[in-house]
Amino acid sequence: MLGELDVPALWLRDACSCSECRDDFSGQRLRGLLTLDAQTSIASWRDDGDDIEVTFTPDRHVSRFSRSWLTANAPGRTGVFDDRSERHRPPWHAADLDGRPPEVGWDELRNDAPPRTAALAALMRTGVLLVRDVPVERGTVLTVARSFGHVRTTNYGDLFDVRVEPRPVNLAFTARAIAPHTDNPYRDPVPGIQLLHCLQSSSGGGENVLIDGFAAAALLRDEDPHAFATLTSTPRTFRYEDATTWLRASGPIITVNTDGDVRAIRWNDRSIEPPAVAPQDIAEVYRATRLFATILDRPELHLHVTLGSGDCVIFDNTRILHARTAFDGGGGARHLQGCYADLDGLASTVAVLERRGG
Ligand code: FE2
Repeated sequence: MLGELDVPALWLRDACSCSECRDDFSGQRLRGLLTLDAQTSIASWRDDGDDIEVTFTPDRHVSRFSRSWLTANAPGRTGVFDDRSERHRPPWHAADLDGRPPEVGWDELRNDAPPRTAALAALMRTGVLLVRDVPVERGTVLTVARSFGHVRTTNYGDLFDVRVEPRPVNLAFTARAIAPHTDNPYRDPVPGIQLLHCLQSSSGGGENVLIDGFAAAALLRDEDPHAFATLTSTPRTFRYEDATTWLRASGPIITVNTDGDVRAIRWNDRSIEPPAVAPQDIAEVYRATRLFATILDRPELHLHVTLGSGDCVIFDNTRILHARTAFDGGGGARHLQGCYADLDGLASTVAVLERRGG
């Protein structure tokens, strides 16, 4: 014990940040785990102003810790870092966002100024952002992605065109309605962020719908805990194949972290395989999955976004499901360009902007 603080010696010795233990410039640790003596104990300690000075045995190392840091960070005082879970990103229904995603102008998003910070923080928090007035030029979706992160290249290339194609390898490239889904669940890891930039809107239909998968999961948990447990504990396999690609990945439809908080949704009715579970579990897996799909159809969860030319919608592909209504594909007019980026790149950009104070 250090006064009123219960801090085991092994943890405290490991946490030392003096220049012998961490590099002054990079802050990286200089001592590996195997240099930490399992028999470490505190030989003596004393108060020194706002600090506590501790001498360890057997290595006789002397460490200083600020009392405020220890109070905030002592074992049991913090949870595991996981800012992606529902604990830090509250679930929403469409009405919670007043029926429209957070918005920012392209000129504001690309400048280092408070509106950029606020917009990207809103994207992290809600999982959605609509960027207005993006130049209607092919390839600009990549510029938007690079304004906050790094483009994730996939089997579809750096970017992909969403428009009616004569021989579509994916139903997205038709005029059909597409049910709520996350993209690329057959990849490991799945792309964290998706961008869709509208170059030409359709004359009729083709409206986009965004759904907070965290909210849908929370409803399932409240209404049928057994179904929720089934979907968090049953890995499902998703697949995609074309002439040059063979992709398979498995994971639960609802991922929870070690605290049981929802942190990811993986769902795509077009690429999911029948469940690989024991015969006696089949009925329950279908029941739970059907219930989740039914919740996704609830209108109160549906955030309707009609993209006009120059609009670019950005969303968290590990949380937000997207859908679209059928559209008039006769003229082949509707044309979006999409790309993917990584969620941690966005989180890093937001953290750096907030550290700078906007
Ligand atoms: Fe999609």
